[in-house]
Amino acid sequence: MLCQQPRLRSLARLWRRRLHTDLDVQHFASIVGPSGVLTEPADLEPFNTDWMGKYKGASRLALRPGSTQEVSRILAHCNERRLPVVPQGGNTGLVGGSVPVGDEIVLSLSRMNRVISLDEHAGNLVCEAGCVLETLQEHAWARGYTMPLDLGAKGSCQIGGNIATNAGGLRYLRYGSLHGTVLGLEVVLADGTVLDSLTALRKDNTGYDLKQLFIGAEGTLGVITACALALPRAPQSVQLAFLGVDSYEAVLRTFGAARRELGEVLSAIEFLDRESFELVTAPPQPTATDGGGGGGGGGGGARRPLETSCRHYMLIELSGSDAGHDGEKLGRFLEALLADGTVVDGTIAHDSAQSAAIWRVREGITGALGRAGAVYKYDVSIPLHELYDLVEDTRARLAPLGAEVTGFGHLGDGNLHLNVYTPGVFEQRADVLGAIEPFVYEWVAARRGSISAEHGIGVMKPNYLHMSKAPPMIELMRGVKALLDPHNILNPGKVLPPAESASET
Ligand code: FAD
Ligand code: MLT
Ligand code: ZN
Repeated sequence: MLCQQPRLRSLARLWRRRLHTDLDVQHFASIVGPSGVLTEPADLEPFNTDWMGKYKGASRLALRPGSTQEVSRILAHCNERRLPVVPQGGNTGLVGGSVPVGDEIVLSLSRMNRVISLDEHAGNLVCEAGCVLETLQEHAWARGYTMPLDLGAKGSCQIGGNIATNAGGLRYLRYGSLHGTVLGLEVVLADGTVLDSLTALRKDNTGYDLKQLFIGAEGTLGVITACALALPRAPQSVQLAFLGVDSYEAVLRTFGAARRELGEVLSAIEFLDRESFELVTAPPQPTATDGGGGGGGGGGGARRPLETSCRHYMLIELSGSDAGHDGEKLGRFLEALLADGTVVDGTIAHDSAQSAAIWRVREGITGALGRAGAVYKYDVSIPLHELYDLVEDTRARLAPLGAEVTGFGHLGDGNLHLNVYTPGVFEQRADVLGAIEPFVYEWVAARRGSISAEHGIGVMKPNYLHMSKAPPMIELMRGVKALLDPHNILNPGKVLPPAESASET
């Protein structure tokens, strides 16, 4: 693990000691059965390594429960014995929250992957936490519904992990936050208590809405075992345009026009700069691993939707009920922007294959970055008009160190993904990290932005939490944590800073 913070180094040292005994392992085997207990180093490797290959734990035990009752009995025992636990979903998180710091027990939810019900009238889905997002998308689509959430990691991430991180993704602009679309949760608390709020009611004002605490808590307050979600109807028509523009100012003008002219059917507005576009469309090079982390060169190998080289590119997606009407509207919108010079070049997907090829350009950037070199990822919310200034300021600062800077993200949500990478160099460099942090966090805090728009805090950012949360709020968070997990067994070292650094600047 990249342990630049002294606090993490000492936690990792402490937890690298073996924390559980053979008797504990026997007890867990009596709960989940021998096949639900993993102790072999080779079997544990994927549970100990995050998607980017950047964070590595030293867990000697992973458990794969098959039911809520099993999760409850595991946590009750861990709480009694003060054994730290890391809940793990699809392990696609980008802030190191899903892997152990040392020898915590990994609690994998992947066997809990049953769809319990989909009410075809109300569109309420109830399922276990380990369901893979893409499987749920297919399940919903086949019944005339769509998931309110979509993201590049859909083939691996789990709905429990999505809720635990309050993932945003590509259609947040249209369907909003999981804080709104999650109707109910089943959560197991640190002491094994099962908190059942698994109702699928659209309205319920009966006191504090406790489930909200677990949405975005990154596994530090409880283990999500099942959820109820409100699904929107599947759109009957989906249209997608890919546009090239020559300045960030033109990005903003296009954004404004899209909100004005297409507002009622808009479902996504995404953007990527030329640097991201060139990387994701460059020919792929041989790599040691797929996704992040491995050796090899860069290149995402995605097909270029436009041949014209532009400063920035945008994806504008419409989801509606009338293909003819929406298609005409999008065509007129593009023509007008081409005519007044706001847009330099553009194309509209004519079928789902073309549409998927365009989405591959946007969704492939993360993987292409991981293959190009060591990546330093930042995920911020800042006022739209200043969003690209952060990329330019960081680029100017990093250029002397030979590091490249790309910017892309969910423009419609004011969410920038700022990524720095060192081409061909796969080791994290202290000088590069030192040039980025705390510069980026300070830059964002000065504009009252968020240092984590959607990826969470994990193990990467606890010491910078105060840049987005005032001290009384951090104290209140600490109080909630102490109430729900008094022995700090759930994902320790994640989200909250240690008490003494809460007011550091
Ligand atoms: P994990 O990575 O396994 O865990 C993430 C956190 O949640 C950890 O702290 C873990 O302890 C906790 N957790 C997991 N399951 C549970 C549970 N059942 N109960 C309690 N805690 C739990 N994120 C976005 O927000 N938007 C994007 O557009 C987006 N795109 C991505 C694209 C790619 C290619 C990749 C690799 C990642 C992307 N991510 C994105 C980040 C990541 O996919 C999301 O954070 C996702 O929601 C994590 O789900 P997971 O099942 O993989 O969780
Ligand atoms: C995305 O929007 O593609 C993701 O959040 C992943 C990333 O930031 O790399
Ligand atoms: Zn994102």
